[in-house]
Amino acid sequence: MKASARGRAAGKVILLGEHAVVYGRPALAAGLPLWLEAEVVAGEGPARFESDRHADDPRAARLIAEAAAAVGLEPRGLVVRVRSDVPAGVGVGSSAALAVAVLRALAAAAGRRLARDEELEVATRLESIFHGHPSGIDPAAAALGGCFRFVRGTPPVVAPVRPVVPLPLVIAFGARPRSTGAAVMGLRARWEADRARHEALFDAVAATVEDGARAVEAGDLAALGRAFDRNQTLLETIGVSAPEVEALAARARAAGALGAKLTGGGAGGAVGARAPDPERLAGALGADGTRTIVAHVGAAAEEAA
Ligand code: MEV
Repeated sequence: MKASARGRAAGKVILLGEHAVVYGRPALAAGLPLWLEAEVVAGEGPARFESDRHADDPRAARLIAEAAAAVGLEPRGLVVRVRSDVPAGVGVGSSAALAVAVLRALAAAAGRRLARDEELEVATRLESIFHGHPSGIDPAAAALGGCFRFVRGTPPVVAPVRPVVPLPLVIAFGARPRSTGAAVMGLRARWEADRARHEALFDAVAATVEDGARAVEAGDLAALGRAFDRNQTLLETIGVSAPEVEALAARARAAGALGAKLTGGGAGGAVGARAPDPERLAGALGADGTRTIVAHVGAAAEEAA
C-alpha cells in the first residue's frame, strides 16, 4: 500500500425525480461545486476516521472496512482524514460524496483506479450503509458531476443533459438536519400499504422529469420552474415534504423564483429554486440567516471525475 493517497468527490443537487428514482423512474441531477476530500495514510491499530464529523460514527468505520475490502486492502492500520465543504443532513449528497471519496482514496492507496461502472456499483453498496435503498443517483453525481438523467440499474443508465447555457440555480439550506434514510423508509412503508396509488404518483413524477430535462436542454427557465413546482406538489402528496421546506419554497416564489422544490431526501433540508436573477433571490432568502449557494447547472467546472 502507498504511504498516503487521496480521493475527492462532489456534492449534488437533485433537480427533479428524487424518491421516485428509487422505484425505477428517471431523475435529473447535477454535481455541485462543493467538495469532499479523503486522504488515507498508514497508521496503527483498528481503522479510524480523523474528522470531527465522522470520528465516532460506527457507520464510518464500516465504510472504511467495506471500501478497503472492495479494493483488496487490509483495513487494520488505515487512517482516513476527511475535509469537506458539503453540508451534512440537508440533501446535497454528503454521504455519497464521503463514500466515493473514501473509495477513490483507498483505490489509489492500493495502486488502482476503478472503472466507472465498478466505482458506481461499489459506491452505491457503500451508500446503503447510510440509507437502506439507495438508487445510486447520489454516488453517480458525486463521482461524475455535470448534469445528467439517471435510471437505476447495474450498471445505471446515466445520460448527460446539456443546457444550451449553464442554468443558475439557488439552493437554500434548511436549518434542521434530517435523515434521508428515515424519509426513504417511511415512503417504503406507505408504498407497501398501497402500491397502485404510489406507482401512479411515481409515473406522474417521471413525466415532470422528462418535461424538466427537455426544458434544461432548451434553456427554458419558465418550463423548468413549472416542472419544479409540479414535482414539489407530488413530493408533498407522497409524504416526503415538511412544513419548513414548503415555507422556504413559498418564500423563494414570493421573492421571484419561477419554481421551487425540496431537493434530495426531503423531510426538511435544502430547497432548489429557479430564478431569472439568482443573486437577488439568494440575497432575499439569506436575509434571515438562511445559507444559500448559487450553482450553475451544466457548467464545465462541475465535472468531478
Ligand atoms: C436522495 O438524495 C435521493 C433519494 O431518491 C434516495 C436515492 O435515490 O437513493 C431520496
